[in-house]
Amino acid sequence: MAKRLCHVRVKEQGNTVAVQRESQTWTTVTAISHPDEIRSYFAHIIRAASEDIAIVPSTGTGFAMTMIAHNILRDMQVKFKFQSFSFSFSFSSKKKVKLLLLQDEMSSEVYAWQEIAQELEIEFIIVPHPTSSQGWMPIILQILQEHDYNVDICCLPQVHWSDVGSHIDLALIGNVCHLHDIKFVIDGTQSVGIMPFNVQTIRCHGVQCT
Ligand SMILES: Cc1ncc(COP(=O)(O)O)c(C=O)c1O
Repeated sequence: MAKRLCHVRVKEQGNTVAVQRESQTWTTVTAISHPDEIRSYFAHIIRAASEDIAIVPSTGTGFAMTMIAHNILRDMQVKFKFQSFSFSFSFSSKKKVKLLLLQDEMSSEVYAWQEIAQELEIEFIIVPHPTSSQGWMPIILQILQEHDYNVDICCLPQVHWSDVGSHIDLALIGNVCHLHDIKFVIDGTQSVGIMPFNVQTIRCHGVQCT
């Protein structure tokens, strides 16, 4: 019994420490041992340079995508002020930002943009679930064409997170984005490390991955 009580107390202390650490996201990142080695392995997997890899606390809660979005919007010189950060961008105002997403995608691809949409006018172009067995590709291409390729950002995964077996040809979309000057952002979680992924052929502007 005593052993058990002691065990519970230890567990309780351990949990408190774990919860405190979770709330201090920066410590979980710095607590990673061999970060440079991890960056270099990950860079190899996606065929990038290790200097291009940043280790951040999460993708699922929008952290990584928020960083990518910041960089992209700054690159686009969009008037943008984001409350959660201690800095703000205030560049020349631009038209509404058009963002293409897939229906029912993981929150990691949605939250960051929804948050930004409170400050900045974003038109969400949502690609509906495919009804045919041909999957997402024809419908994504069709929607891009219907918008005359007048889209600012495409934010896509390589596989839809809840459609078993769905596959998005990122190299093809990357080419279309490149041709029409569309920023291309990817959530590679669930496919990177399992399926071939090469940032050089995909020509994307950012990849997030857990
Ligand atoms: C597509 C996708 N993005 C992100 C995540 C999770 O990210 P995190 O572990 O940082 O919450 C998942 C987890 O299942 C996922 O499926």
